[in-house]
Amino acid sequence: MEEGKIRLRQHVKNPNLIKHMIAVSGIMKGLAIYLNEDEDLWETVGLLHDIDYEEVNDDWNKHGLASAEMVQDLLPEAALHAIKAHNPKTGVELESKLDLALIAADALSGLIIATALMMPSRKIAEVKVKSLNSKFRDRSFARGVDRNNILLCEKLGISLNDFFSLGLTALMPLSEELGV
Ligand SMILES: [Fe+2]
Repeated sequence: MEEGKIRLRQHVKNPNLIKHMIAVSGIMKGLAIYLNEDEDLWETVGLLHDIDYEEVNDDWNKHGLASAEMVQDLLPEAALHAIKAHNPKTGVELESKLDLALIAADALSGLIIATALMMPSRKIAEVKVKSLNSKFRDRSFARGVDRNNILLCEKLGISLNDFFSLGLTALMPLSEELGV
């Protein structure tokens, strides 16, 4: 994870993008603990999945493939597969739990942050499972967040409400770092 952080800062300058990846890595860690998987590995996959974002030059077919290449010395094949598969344009199929988790965590982090920004305090601490539920159902809210990707949690044996709660618990300790 530490090496991952160094690598991330070498390639990504946009602070919001770094925050996005920290948020996804927090939820990935929460999922790994819940599913009894490799915490450090899942966390690092979340942290590095978009590392190519500033270097693909809007060639979105390469997004994910380039990330995997940039971290191939740090991560095992299963992790590289998840990073490639999180972009449907690569044509790499979702196969493992790790693949599904990354897509679901990516989307959930977006919903939680967008919801937090709607709160009077603009803080995650104020967001409840109930708020996430109503924002999830309001399709005009945070349109960029793919609800079907969030629902992939069910393929991991986690109900939507449990996933919301897991996401909030995972992001709370990161609140200061994320600035929400
Ligand atoms: Fe992402």
